[in-house]
Order: sequence, then structure tokens, then C-alpha cells
Amino acid sequence: MGHYDAYIKGHDIPDTFTFDLIAPYKSKKSLIFISREDSNEFAKKLKCDIVYIDPPYNSRQYSRFYHVLENITCWRKPELHGVALKPDPENMSDYCRNKAKIVFKELIDSLDCKYIVVSYNNTYESKSSSSKNKMTLEDIETALSARGEVQQFETSHNFFNAGKTDFNDHKELIFIVKVK
Ligand SMILES: C[S@@+](CC[C@H](N)C(=O)[O-])C[C@H]1O[C@@H](n2cnc3c(N)ncnc32)[C@H](O)[C@@H]1O
Repeated sequence: MGHYDAYIKGHDIPDTFTFDLIAPYKSKKSLIFISREDSNEFAKKLKCDIVYIDPPYNSRQYSRFYHVLENITCWRKPELHGVALKPDPENMSDYCRNKAKIVFKELIDSLDCKYIVVSYNNTYESKSSSSKNKMTLEDIETALSARGEVQQFETSHNFFNAGKTDFNDHKELIFIVKVK
């Protein structure tokens, strides 16, 4: 399915797993470093031209869906529980909770940059509560417009959907803010 929330029953899936390294992008003009810090802490130390933000959309915690990859990367073998054999929860994000709009505004307010780019989608009307967006478009617009002029672009897109929710009129949105 592409994530590790549960096993697919009744399928004979080969148990081989390949993990190819990505080719690092090399440029003399840009500085590349990767941080595993909480975005809101990391953002306070950043001064740059453009910040691109692609936050979680709903209450589904990424760490509960991608724990297998995380544990391979960290080379850990934690104790697993339940039918789906999951480790204890870790890295639970406020962006997947009702606090999402508060932490998003805090993040946006703390940015020291010329442009802010945010991608989001319109699944806030989803029938499934876990697919429902934790921030409305209005929440995003309110936070972004406090920092400058906001432009919004949208495109129709097929939504990744492993459940029963019917996402009609699914749109991917990009907000671009020229910071005052
Ligand atoms: C929509 S995905 C972004 C996917 C990414 N842009 C890509 O194309 O692979 C949201 C990501 O934000 C991460 N995340 C959630 N809360 C976070 C936080 N407070 N600080 C840093 N990352 C967070 C999730 O683990 C997830 O990887």
C-alpha cells in the first residue's frame, strides 16, 4: 500500500526489501543540510530566501505509518505490539492534532525569509474523521496573510486513498507569500 499502518491479508508478498541510496544533490551555490528537529524549533534558527512547507493534512500520524522505514534508518529493533505489530508511538505531531492551526501560525510567524511557499489540499470536507484536514483554508490564509501578500494556485489531483472516502473535486493548493 506504500505505508505500514496494517498488513494486507491473504496476499503472497515477497519478503525482500531493497533500500537504494539517493544521489545527493551537489551545488557550490546552495547549502544543504537535513534536520530531524521539530519544524517549529528548527525554523527559529533559519534565515533564508524561500521556505517551502508541506505539513501533514490530517490526524494520521506519519510516525505510525512509516515506522518500518524509520526503524531501518535508525537501525533499531523495538518491541512490537498488537495485530499490526507496531512499536510504541514516538514523534507524534501537533500538526495532526486540533492544535494544528496554532502550531502552524507559530511556525509562520517565526520565519525569517523573503518568500513562504505552502502546499496543502482540500480534504477538510472528507467524510472520514481521520482524513479530515486539521486546518481549514481560512486558517492557512489567516496565518499567511499576517506575513504579506498571499497568492493561491490550485490544481485538480487524484488523491491517494486506501479507505472508503470518496474525494470528489480533490485539489492540491499552493500558497505563495511575499514577506513584508
Ligand atoms: C505531507 S508530508 C511531507 C512530505 C514531503 N514533502 C515529501 O514530499 O516527501 C509531512 C511531513 O511532515 C513531517 N512532520 C510532521 N510534524 C512535524 C513537525 N512538527 N516537525 C517536523 N516534521 C514534521 C511528517 O513526518 C511528514 O514527513
